[in-house]
This record gives sequence, structure tokens and C-alpha cells, in this order.
Amino acid sequence: MKYGFFDDAALEYVITTPKTPLPWINYLGNKEFFSLISNTCGGYTFFKDAKLLRLTRYRYNNVPYDNNGKYFYIKDTTDSEAVVWNPGWQPVKTALDKYECRHGLGYSTFTSTKNDVEAKVLTFVPMNDNCEISKVTITNNKDKAAKLSLFSYVEWCLWNADDDMKNFQRNLSTGEVEVTDGGSTIYHKTEYRERRNHYAIYSVNTAVDGFDTSRDAFLGAYNGPDSPDVVAAGKATNSVASGWSPIASQQINLELKAGESKTFIFILGYIENPEDDKWEAPGVVNKKPALKMIDAYKSEAAVDAALSELKSYWKDLLSNYHISSSNEKVDRMVNIWNQYQCMVTFNMSRSASYYESGIGRGMGFRDSCQDLLGFVHLIPDRARQRIIDIASTQFQDGSAYHQYQPLTKKGNSDIGSGFNDDPLWLIAGTSAYVRETGDLSILKEMVPFDNDMSVAKTLMGHLKCSFDFTATHKGPHGLPLIGRADWNDCLNLNCFSEHPGESFQTFGPSEGPVAESVFIAGMFVKYGEEYAQLAELLGDQAEADRARDEIKKVYEAAITAGWDGEWFVRAYDSHSNKVGSKECEEGQIYIEPQGFCVLAGIGVKEGLAEKALKSVEERLDTKYGVMILQPAYTKYHLELGEVSSYPPGYKENAGIFCHNNPWVSIAETVLGHGDRAFEIYKKTCPAYIEEISDVHCTEPYVYSQMVAGRDAKFFGQGKNSWLTGTAAWTFVNISQYILGVYPTHNGLSIDPCVPADFGDFEITRKYRDAVYHISVKQNGAQKGIKKLTVNGKEVSGSVIPYESGVKEYTVEAVMG
Ligand code: GLC
Ligand code: GLC
Repeated sequence: MKYGFFDDAALEYVITTPKTPLPWINYLGNKEFFSLISNTCGGYTFFKDAKLLRLTRYRYNNVPYDNNGKYFYIKDTTDSEAVVWNPGWQPVKTALDKYECRHGLGYSTFTSTKNDVEAKVLTFVPMNDNCEISKVTITNNKDKAAKLSLFSYVEWCLWNADDDMKNFQRNLSTGEVEVTDGGSTIYHKTEYRERRNHYAIYSVNTAVDGFDTSRDAFLGAYNGPDSPDVVAAGKATNSVASGWSPIASQQINLELKAGESKTFIFILGYIENPEDDKWEAPGVVNKKPALKMIDAYKSEAAVDAALSELKSYWKDLLSNYHISSSNEKVDRMVNIWNQYQCMVTFNMSRSASYYESGIGRGMGFRDSCQDLLGFVHLIPDRARQRIIDIASTQFQDGSAYHQYQPLTKKGNSDIGSGFNDDPLWLIAGTSAYVRETGDLSILKEMVPFDNDMSVAKTLMGHLKCSFDFTATHKGPHGLPLIGRADWNDCLNLNCFSEHPGESFQTFGPSEGPVAESVFIAGMFVKYGEEYAQLAELLGDQAEADRARDEIKKVYEAAITAGWDGEWFVRAYDSHSNKVGSKECEEGQIYIEPQGFCVLAGIGVKEGLAEKALKSVEERLDTKYGVMILQPAYTKYHLELGEVSSYPPGYKENAGIFCHNNPWVSIAETVLGHGDRAFEIYKKTCPAYIEEISDVHCTEPYVYSQMVAGRDAKFFGQGKNSWLTGTAAWTFVNISQYILGVYPTHNGLSIDPCVPADFGDFEITRKYRDAVYHISVKQNGAQKGIKKLTVNGKEVSGSVIPYESGVKEYTVEAVMG
């Protein structure tokens, strides 16, 4: 069952009922000012950091779900019985005559009708200002005059979202506002009197008939946003908040003739003042920058221009990789939604979604490094900066803070370090950037350790620390030590947590000299080679040779101690027992080492890779994707940790963890299996499972972190949509491996691996300074390039040689 449809020409997903199985959200903002907005107008706004600079409140864990947002109420008093409704249906939930929500790239629109009054709300964050604009158009389609009132509503957060929901003894006394122009502009200035030099505004471009800034005055002390007193009374109270919960609400009364429309522009903005220019009079905030912002968007023309600027920005960005094939769903995901989600994961890492509260994880070291892989072709300069930021949280021994806060860019000491896959992801992200841009200067940048510039090294020096960390932290089988956990945060082999409430990762010793990871071995072979190539590019052949010697040792360990007979072992625990082996009662086979070892090329020539992927197909595959392990753990295993804490079928305990499905798909392309690679791609691909939205539940235009596995009661149900490494990895898989346009240091390589019936296709790819127009004749082949012609000349191999000065390449690839 579907709850909407894709409008590919408009680059939008159209939701046709507010009653989706879960809130279906969108992200507004591309740089520093962001909002989350659901299909019922729920959500919140922050500047840079969802924990430290939250503008508006949102209540996670609310009942009913998703019941705080930036709401507009329409009160229609034309007839004797007044009707109150919202364009997004919530929070009043009056049945609408018509409802449509369109989530586009950085904007959302709501068009709803009740009793022949239409409301259209367009909401977006403009490219170059720290504000969210809502353009609200009310049209009277009755055959008589309509009497209406429009009420706006936003609830301020007192900036630190964590403190805001804990420290009530203080926070209920600190709230402060200023109101100007009779209520047209409301300034939220809590804590501005002390250490903050920022405030927020909510402003509308018209004279108003009243306002409220006290939540209790607007809602009534015993009401929620579904039944505000002021709306019921039809009259704002002009309340000025002092402490408690400040809000911003304006009332606009309207008399619309039959057929008449009126448009209002609301701005929710974030303003910073210089430390020495905070006040225009004692206690009165300096409003100059706010007035400038308000002025910039006071006309419809200015708002329309800002929206078209946003739209052309996206159109231009997405043209960096564009496919035209006979597979509508592939085109839709590649050209629009997958790249869009890559931008969102790059911006948010794992901080703010409807499942990440914005006060928890911040930026993840491994997460952000992987997000880069799907983002670097969009805006390489931002990727460059991110790499430097991430590397700055590394320690001198190569290990790294697992997470950092986006505002301060400082490592988060609650979680600390000790996740032994982290260092190698830095090589992955950097190598992707250099292959994309050819910019070797990044490797020579001086980058601090733990933000301490006095111990800086070049970025290449950091990568060496990453490489050496793994090379020097090996266990009894010559495999890399796992530490607190590797990619699988829940495989905690050194922790032994026995009591509820203890962290599975950081409680106890958490690091040990025995527990080893075959997955990290796969990473070391893959990213160690990428490190060696970077060393060669810098002219350091000796370092490249040294690296390759180290890689050989780990490769050997992986195909001996890391091999279980039919598949790769997952790990050795701290008693040196195998994890993910036929010897185990539960958890006999894990997905991670099969996908990653094979994509790294391990066991290909020995014939082990074929066997490993066969085992995955036989033991882990389902109609909704490949499960992370089997058989599921039915009881808690102290020696394994969190992985066995989940009920079977959920999360890392035998869920379909979408993030590592593309690893298996990529692994299949390494072996030339186009049919199977694509089959795996399709099973978790949003566009291909739109039809089962009632089972899948999460948004049909983006990936979720997890789909419940076969052992779960709700097999096929998605959870934790949006912020997942799945976005980047599936884009890497489809764009670089299945469609086969892979950036190497020497130029683009064209080597697709597609299903036999895929058909011919064309790709436009912007790469470095040139545009490549690539057409692929498939000839029913799954893999292999028979002939490659570049600008009329045949070239050998699959890499398009780089010619300086050439801005356009016309490429014809014939498979077979
Ligand atoms: C979550 C984490 C990611 C981890 C994965 C597997 O998605 O964000 O860092 O690799 O779970 O545990
Ligand atoms: C929990 C989650 C896992 C996530 C981790 C992040 O362990 O189950 O998916 O990666 O938290 O710390």
C-alpha cells in the first residue's frame, strides 16, 4: 500500500494523506541553519548544532507522536459554527477536504482545503540566510465572503536542548522576549543578558490583530497545541512572557471576498550580534541585523526568488551525476533521492532526526568518514574541510574520539576512543576525496591531534598513524584487535557488562589484547592499499612497499585464521573463541566480513570469495534484504555484549542492517555477478519497496538504518530512517560499482556490473574540471568492457585517460 507517489519531474515526493504509518519528514537547510519538518508540520529548527543551539522545541517520546511543530491555525467563522483546522492536519486534526504534502529538495509544501477555504504553506531555508521562511496563502473558494483568522505558533527552546528538558528549576525563570510593531515581530532573547550574543525572531510581513508570547496564555494551562484557548476564543491576549515557556504567536483576521487570496510571509530567524554591539538601549537587543533579514524577505517576489535560487542550486548539484536508463526507479534514486540523502547525512551525521534526538551522538568519526564517500562528488570543498575537522579529533597513536560536537568540533569524552575501525575510515574518506579531485595538497595540510596544534602533523602523517594503529594492534592470530567494537557497535568482546544501565561499549576494561576482528582485517586490506597508493602519489615508494608488506600479513591471517570453511569468521572473542563460525550455536555467520573481505579482494583468487557469497545467499538472504547474522541470538551472551541484547530480528541481532547490504552487493560486482548485485540493491532500495509502505512504515524516498529481520514479529518493518551510512554506501554501490563509474587517481574508470536485462544507459558525470557524457551499450553482458572510445579515439583498459585542458569527454563503452 502507498500513501503518496513520486513526482520525478518536480523532484518531489507527494504525500496524499497525513496519516502515514510514521511521520514522514524532510530536511530544510543546506549549510548551518536547519529544520526537520514532518508531513503534518511537526519538527524543529536549530543553528549548526541540534544540542547546543536549538531554536524551537520538539518533544521526543511525545503522545501522540510528532505533536510539536511550527503550526498555523485557521479559524473559519463564516458560518454560525466556527471550524478550526491546520494545513498539515495536526495538531487540531480536523478532517480536511483535501490534503497534499510535497517534500522537495530543501523545501516542503502543504496544500489543504476545508469548507472551500484553501491554505497553501511553502516552507524552506534560503541559501544564504539563517532563517526559515513560510509563505502562507489563504484562498476563499466559497461563493460568498469568508471571515477567517490565522494564528501562527512556534514554541521556543531555551537554546541548549539537553538542559532545556532537564533543568526546570532554572529554566522556568529565565525566558525573555521583546515584542515590536504590535506583535508583527517577536524576539526570543533568553540568556542574551548574560553569555549569549544571539537571539531568535519570528516575524510576519503584515500588521497583526494580536499576539502571544506566553505558552500558558496561548494554549491555556491545561491544553495542548490541539486546543489553544486563544484560538477557541478567537482573540489573542497580547501576553508578554516572563519566565515559563515563551512562544511566538500572531493573529491575523481576514475578510476574503469570494475568490480572493492573501499571502503572508513568516520568518523564523537566528541572529548573532558582535559582543560589543549587543544592545541598542539598556535591556533592548540590537535589532539591526534582524531588521535587515526581515526586510530581505518581506515581498513575495523576494521569497519566490529565494526559492528558485534553492531549486537551481539543487538542480546544478545533482547534475554532477545523472543517469538516464530504462529503469525508472534506478534513475529516480540515483538522480534525486539517494544523492539528497547523502547531503543530509553529510550535514547531520547521526545528530538530529526523528530517531536521533539531537542531544545524543553528534558527529560520528566513522559515520562522517563514510558519509563523505557518497558526498564528495557533490561539493568537494566541504568534504575537504570535513576531513580536516575529523582528523583533528584523532589522537597521536592513531586512535580517535568516536564522536564530536558539530559546534565546538571537539571530541566527546563521554564515549572516548577505542573503536578500532575508526582510524581506517579516515583513510577511506581521504582517498575518496583525492581520487575525486586530484588535490594532493590536502595530504600536506598541517592537522592537529585532539585539537592541539602544537602536536600537528600533515594529514598524510595522520593517515600513517591510522595505518600503523592497525598494523601494531594485532592479536594472537595476527588479526587486528577489535577494542570496544568495530563497525558493529554492538559486538562488544571486551566489555562483559552484567548490570542494566552500564554502557555496553565503555563499561569495564573494554579493550583487550586478545579479541580480534576479521572485519577490520578486510578494511585494512582495502584501505591499506588506498593508503599505499597515496604514498606513491607523494613519491614515497618505500612507504607504499612497507604498507603492502603489512597488508600481505593481514591478508594471510584473513584467509587462514579468518576462514571458517564456507565463509569468513567474524571475530575471535577475548577467550580466543570464534564468533560467527559453524562452531557457534547461535550467530554462526555474520554479513560484515563476507561483504568487506570480498570487496577488498580477499579470497577471490583462492576461490573463498565465491563460497562466502554463496553462504550469504543461502543463510542470510530474505525478500527484504540480507540479515546481519544468523541464527539470531536467543539469549544474552556476556562475552558478546549488546549484539545479543536485542530480541531476535531487531537491530544488530539478525536485523537487516541496510548499511552493509551494499557491501555484499559491491562484493558481487567484484566477482562479476551483475544479476545478484542488482537483486541485493533492489531489496532495500526505497523506490522499489514503495508499494509496501504499510509494511515498511518509514519514508519511501530514503533509506532506513534497519529493517526488521525474519526472526522479528514485524519482519520487513523499517526503523531509524534518514541518518545512516546506508545512504552513502548505496550511492557508492550503484554509481561506482553497479553502473561502474569509479574515480581513480588517473581518471574515471568505466566498468559496470549490471543485470543481464538492464539495457543500455547514459550517464553524465562532472569530474574534476570536465563533463563526461558516457554511453554504455550493454549487449546483455553483466560485466566487462569490450571497447572504450573517448572523444572518437579507442583506448585500452577501462580508465579514461586524463587530458589537461579537455572540458568535455564523449565516452562510448561497449560491454561484452
Ligand atoms: C549505527 C552507527 C554506526 C554503526 C552501526 C552498526 O548505524 O551509527 O556507527 O557502525 O550502527 O553498529
Ligand atoms: C547502539 C545501537 C547501534 C549504534 C550505537 C551507537 O549500540 O544499537 O546501532 O551504532 O548505539 O553508539
